[in-house]
Amino acid sequence: MQKLLINGKKELFGKISISGSKNATLPILAASILSNKIKLKNIPLVKDIFTMIELLKSIGLKITILKKKNILNIRNIDQNIKTVAPYKLVKTMRAGVLVLGPLLARYKTAKISLPGGCAIGTRPVDLHLFALKKLGAKIRIKNGYIIAEAKSGLKGTKITFPNISVGATENAILAAFKAKGKTILNNCAIEPEIQNLILFLNNLGGNIKIIGRKIIIPNCKNIKKDVTHKVIFDRIELGTYMIAAALIGKKVKFKNVDTRIVKNDIQLLKKMGIKMISKKSSIEIFKSKNIKKINIETRPYPGFATDLQAQLMVLMTQAKGISKIKENIFENRFMHVPELKRMGANIKISNKTAIIKGPTKLTGAEVMATDLRASVSLVLAALIADNRTIINRIYHLDRGYEYLEKKLKNCKARIKRI
Ligand code: UD1
Repeated sequence: MQKLLINGKKELFGKISISGSKNATLPILAASILSNKIKLKNIPLVKDIFTMIELLKSIGLKITILKKKNILNIRNIDQNIKTVAPYKLVKTMRAGVLVLGPLLARYKTAKISLPGGCAIGTRPVDLHLFALKKLGAKIRIKNGYIIAEAKSGLKGTKITFPNISVGATENAILAAFKAKGKTILNNCAIEPEIQNLILFLNNLGGNIKIIGRKIIIPNCKNIKKDVTHKVIFDRIELGTYMIAAALIGKKVKFKNVDTRIVKNDIQLLKKMGIKMISKKSSIEIFKSKNIKKINIETRPYPGFATDLQAQLMVLMTQAKGISKIKENIFENRFMHVPELKRMGANIKISNKTAIIKGPTKLTGAEVMATDLRASVSLVLAALIADNRTIINRIYHLDRGYEYLEKKLKNCKARIKRI
């Protein structure tokens, strides 16, 4: 099994080009079921994307990938379609469940494995099913599979989500796109990745509008034949490396970004005393001393992202005083805490809140990655730790970070995969 070896305390200096967003690419790939021929640019070459490609191929789509250019060409010629998402693919990547909406919309039937739990919590799909039922799908669960049918097609309606969910909002949009009449979704997630999905669907011929947390989806009658779309940058990858630069950067510049989308993250880091210059499509972070404590809670966008909670916690270990971070989205997302403590961090958990006392000196240790973002928080900790850190189970990192070692190495970090 592969491991990462990191020798800490080396200042970062250089440029990092931010990849396309994994979480935007996944629903857009699911949306390709609705289309005929599309070209996607700025695709991140990470494991979750390859898993989704495998799933779409098993459904019957034709996909070619130009790795050097991060481009995917996808065709759905409507032949030999299998409306099934098997357990072996959905269990490794929950976003597989996103093919449910488009399969139902186009083929009126779908059999999708229930994803089951994962390291960060139980993560049910009840809100996905709630929305699809409202759109007229008949759904039952059998042998661990969701069996869904809409024999006479889906029908547009008004749906108010009881709680905000990124995936359920995406599945509902994808299903409603071809439903008869208009659909109005209330209390939606409005993450930039969802906005990018909507941009893609509107390029495809839709006329979807977002008003606050309301999303209005008229039926799309004519789906365009040949559409090209550029995937938005990965704001979580950017946030992760911005925190790395805040921790141990001499001068790090980020390219291929849109700072309007991450203005709250920029504000947050500035409030913590991080020195930076941000322009429209680039950010530069400089060596920062006297990092200030902060209290924050994770919230749906535009609130602070749960996907940056573990990384920010590492920065909090270097802030003066007591910082607090409350996790509101997932019930079990402090798995990185015991590992950070093994590296010397002073962190206590009280219910949903982590209380971090800083600044503390971190020292290298052998640690274990537990999920995608927890793993990368250990990389950040290792970058500032004395001596060498060995990170095990790094397949989690490969699910979502494109060229992680290369990007850090280019900025002079001492990092090696064995
Ligand atoms: C997406 C992101 C993930 C991010 C999360 C929250 C992708 C591929 N993944 O995951 O990186 O951490 O948003 O920003 O985009 N819930 C239910 N019932 C449901 C669905 C969700 O109770 O049917 C709960 C979840 O357990 C969780 C909360 O709602 O507590 C939010 O989950 P959701 O927004 O759906 O996350 P994902 O779409 O799975």
